[in-house]
Amino acid sequence: MADKAGISLIRTHQAGALRINDVGSEVVLSGWVQRRRDLGGVIFIDLRDRSGIVQAVFAAKLSNEALETANQLRNEFVISVRGQVVKRDPDTVNPKIATGDIEVQVLQLEILNAAKNPPFYIEDRIDVDENVRLKHRYLDLRRPVMRQTFELRHKAIKYIRDYLDSNEFMEVETPILTKSTPEGARDYLVPSRLHDGEFYALPQSPQLFKQLLMVSGFERYFQVARCFRDEDLRADRQPEFTQVDIEQSFIPLPKFQAMMEQMISGLFEHTLGKVVPGPFQRITYAEAMELYGSDKPDLRFDMKLVNLQNIVAQSAFKVFRSTIEAGGLVKALLIPSGGTFTRKQIDDLELFVKQYGASGLAWIAYTPEGMKSPVAKFLSEEEIRAISEVTHVQGHDLIAIVAGKPKVVHDALGNLRLKIGKESGLIAEDEYKFLWVTEFPLLEWDDDEKRFTAMHHPFTMPMWEDIPLMKSDPGAVRAQAYDIVLNGFEIGGGSMRIFQRELQEQMFELLGFTLEEAKKQFGFLLDAFEYGTPPHGGIAFGIDRIIMLMAGMKSLRDVIAFPKTASGTDPMTQAPSPVTDRQLRDLHIQLRKPK
Ligand code: AMO
Ligand code: AMP
Repeated sequence: MADKAGISLIRTHQAGALRINDVGSEVVLSGWVQRRRDLGGVIFIDLRDRSGIVQAVFAAKLSNEALETANQLRNEFVISVRGQVVKRDPDTVNPKIATGDIEVQVLQLEILNAAKNPPFYIEDRIDVDENVRLKHRYLDLRRPVMRQTFELRHKAIKYIRDYLDSNEFMEVETPILTKSTPEGARDYLVPSRLHDGEFYALPQSPQLFKQLLMVSGFERYFQVARCFRDEDLRADRQPEFTQVDIEQSFIPLPKFQAMMEQMISGLFEHTLGKVVPGPFQRITYAEAMELYGSDKPDLRFDMKLVNLQNIVAQSAFKVFRSTIEAGGLVKALLIPSGGTFTRKQIDDLELFVKQYGASGLAWIAYTPEGMKSPVAKFLSEEEIRAISEVTHVQGHDLIAIVAGKPKVVHDALGNLRLKIGKESGLIAEDEYKFLWVTEFPLLEWDDDEKRFTAMHHPFTMPMWEDIPLMKSDPGAVRAQAYDIVLNGFEIGGGSMRIFQRELQEQMFELLGFTLEEAKKQFGFLLDAFEYGTPPHGGIAFGIDRIIMLMAGMKSLRDVIAFPKTASGTDPMTQAPSPVTDRQLRDLHIQLRKPK
């Protein structure tokens, strides 16, 4: 039956779209063999294409030649069939698939291509090592769940493009081969052949170019932009990822945020049918750290950290008192029903907080047998009563207390909060809780380099009322910078920008640049600021993270078609890989350690 001269059957229908009202039609379908079953002369094929699966039946009454061809079919063969849509017998109806009321009685079969036995089943629920999936990514992407994710990704990005387009934003491409700048993450470098010893860098974001487009008077810019950062990878961090990058001139911050909220609400409603009305909750960075120990708190559940400073500042317990004297923090987290934890469970909590640098965990347990605490002997009754009161102990609860430097206490208890929230089922998995975190500090002290670095980036505008502090107390300056957080993930971040040369130069000075260095690195921006720069600001959304959360996936690797592993490799193409001596010579590169 197969026509060796070429394709003779031209597809008329999508397999997954056939329904009961197609009964009686003659159809031509094309796709892959999902499964072949031979039931005593009758052969059943599950035929899969992009739209879904339908059952095709090769009845015993077909010619011998036809049945023989059908017998050759194996999983993942590519075929076309011509046949008639018929109603299934009531006892063979399959309610699990959309086409389960019907099947296709095959009249003609064409094998378009054979296939080797795949290394894993093309099914949604498979338990296969991720490296094997990535090595055969083209097969992994055949699985329906992956295809659905990429349909969602396509729809989401299209929605955002349309939204921005209808609000007069213009998409502009900015360079991929650009200039290395010392701030931010590590750059990926590209050696220049024409300029011996010189390098381009791949962009970490289009930040400077989008600001220059504002100087150019484009007023509303966006770009679905690929960004590259050579940093340590995690489940929510890829070396190359995609931003929806946005910049706008002449707009006050509240109006800009309202527009972004409208876009995000529309996106969730349009693509997921989820209503997430604005305005989104807003908290300042200081509040987020104080209450949740994190600048990207998951607000799907409550559990706030409680500051014990007022209670324990004068305590006889040296760990607490000396921490406060040294400018540290003592904070508590109430774990509901934690009073019933075993000693082993509590010891595990201590090991958990130690991962974040805590030197220990103090706890007070209200067990069914009464109050227990290894630190009770160091604390007065009055102190224990006050701690129990401010943490709102109700029943058999556990109070977990960490003393230490602010960063350690917040990392330890913020992460403990998340762990408890997840493990005790306090988090509604299908809820979407957005918030803006605002008023980030402008600067962050880098203990290794002994200098300030920009918390967002060096182009971020300080809050007007804090500008005088840039001279007297730079660490206290707040920025007009904001993140948008969804369920504990930073899905976007941005700021209003500095648009005057003097302020930008002052900022570089705070970051430890000499005027000369600033000019060398960023002279083009400083120069541009002198030719009529409008006030402007913007944001970049991490679209991969948004899709990951929308699709309910746990890793960015599941929403990027051809992602990198946690060690930055591609098991399929084997990138990165050595290059020839000739290539290196052309690029004027000599390796330190010859291969
Ligand atoms: P920022 O560095 O905060 O801001 O990045 C914006 C958003 O991009 C996403 N993101 C990532 N996603 C996946 N893998 C990564 N390695 C990764 N790094 C960042 C996050 C983040 O919120 N130019 C500024 C934006 C601006 O000021 O307008 C910028 O890049 O979701
Ligand atoms: P120590 O004085 O080191 O024997 O500790 C006494 C108790 O305080 C033990 O239960 C420790 O787990 C606890 N502890 C030690 N360091 C800290 C800390 N940084 N924060 C909270 N509790 C601590």
